[in-house]
Amino acid sequence: MAEDLRIITDISKEEQYRSIIPQIKALISGENDQIANLANIAAALKEQFKWFWVGFYLVKGDELVLGPFQGPVACTRIKKGRGVCGASWEQAETLIVPDVDAFAGHIACASASKSEIVLPVFNNSEIVGVLDVDSEYLSHFDDIDAKYLKEIVGLLDA
Ligand code: SME
Repeated sequence: MAEDLRIITDISKEEQYRSIIPQIKALISGENDQIANLANIAAALKEQFKWFWVGFYLVKGDELVLGPFQGPVACTRIKKGRGVCGASWEQAETLIVPDVDAFAGHIACASASKSEIVLPVFNNSEIVGVLDVDSEYLSHFDDIDAKYLKEIVGLLDA
């Protein structure tokens, strides 16, 4: 496995996903340690998109617990149904939040975060965590992000 990523940024967002997804596949193929794979996915996405915060929360009992991430320190535990992450877990749905201040119950880990997308991560049809991406810009995420991030978390589904 080559550890150096090829990061191309002067292309559309869709093309950036198409460029990074095969590299993410290569990074995690042949490695069955979930934490190692989550860590490399967070790092690859951060390098490609320079988002404010990108990382995983993992289901532990009735809570989400902070997992591998890239960005500023974050809150460690989120109850089911709480915040965008807990809501995505409870609803088993991707949630795109264009303005976090307009989302009732949003958990502000950092005041710089303005918009957010959260996707459930499945393993054998069970939700084992969520992928959370935060941006310092309003309305930063759309259906293109939802589509390709879903493809990325799908790589983790055994
Ligand atoms: N804003 C999230 C909490 C996690 S941090 O953004 C990293 C939420 O409302 O669930």
